[in-house]
Amino acid sequence: MKTICLIPGDGVGKEVIPAAAEALQTLGLGLTFVEAEAGFACFKKYGSALPEATMTRVRQADAVLFGATSSPSGIVEGYRSPILALRKELDLFANLRPVFSLPGEYSRPGIDLLIVRENTEGLYSGREHLEGDTAIAERVITRRGSERIVRVACEQAMQRAVLRGKQPVLTIVHKANVLKLTDGLFRECALKVAAEFPEIKVKELLVDSAAMNLVKSPQSFDVLVTTNLFGDILSDESSALVGGLGVAPSANLGSGTPVFEPVHGSAPDIAGQGIANPVGALLSSAMMLETLGEPQAAASLRQAVLDTLASGLCTADLGGIASTKQFTHAVCARLG
Ligand code: NAI
Ligand code: MG
Repeated sequence: MKTICLIPGDGVGKEVIPAAAEALQTLGLGLTFVEAEAGFACFKKYGSALPEATMTRVRQADAVLFGATSSPSGIVEGYRSPILALRKELDLFANLRPVFSLPGEYSRPGIDLLIVRENTEGLYSGREHLEGDTAIAERVITRRGSERIVRVACEQAMQRAVLRGKQPVLTIVHKANVLKLTDGLFRECALKVAAEFPEIKVKELLVDSAAMNLVKSPQSFDVLVTTNLFGDILSDESSALVGGLGVAPSANLGSGTPVFEPVHGSAPDIAGQGIANPVGALLSSAMMLETLGEPQAAASLRQAVLDTLASGLCTADLGGIASTKQFTHAVCARLG
């Protein structure tokens, strides 16, 4: 029996995670759910944004479904973003962010790409310091970190190619023309690892050009692999091609318990109104089921979401009038 640790977090996380849990329960897989706290409200309550009790539940679970947490932009003594901490703590070095067309006017057609983002180093290494009026952030790129993320990207490209019957294409995204040492190392490692997969067509793009090409011809991409900050930005950008942040799913994979989460944040502007889009959380749950060895249940859930969207039902961010609950119930009705 598989155990899922639910971490709703703050804001709309508290609305989309129950929605996802309801859909998972409807699938009747006999999953066990445990809930755990994290985030800003949790920090104010216990003085920790990711308490040890939560970490214990996370370590004991087979997978984590994480909503979103609110992280203040200024310095709050003792506060650290729980999702960044989880990724580091569990060494979840691979962040998979698929972006595919949805059946609605809000989505452009023909898109089916995967952004593989390095999740533990780069500019998010947490190494910042002040020297008088100068603030310095260190961008840490390691050979081990680069090789292992590119290996995941190549494996994903190979798997996708089998499912789609197409030649796998890997685009390495970097800025090695300026960041000669850090992205120079990333690029060198990427080309070396990709060469171990002769079936894969390998391309490279500078990150600014990649940003432009994702808008101009997103249909031309298959798998993209890149460093932490670039992957964060390019995946939010790409989500806008198919409906926006509300629909974007992700998986964090590596050594410890895998963590699945919608890409969006706590959306304080709409939190508490019952109108958050649960699609990102539902599609993240489908990714979770795949990882847990339930590919059929994953496919059913994904199809139920697509069919519900195709029926014209959607939340306000996609131009509709459905509430989170209405949308979720329509998905569950297709599963039952
Ligand atoms: P955000 O993703 O929360 O919101 C950006 C925009 O997208 C807002 O207009 C929001 O209403 C909309 N949106 C997001 N999710 C939606 C959903 N499910 N349905 C409909 N509309 C949705 O990003 P923002 O505003 O930059 O950050 C807000 C807070 O979230 C910050 O405290 C930030 O630190 C945190 N955050 C947390 C993340 C995480 O826990 N993984 C990821 C990103 C941001
Ligand atoms: Mg982000």
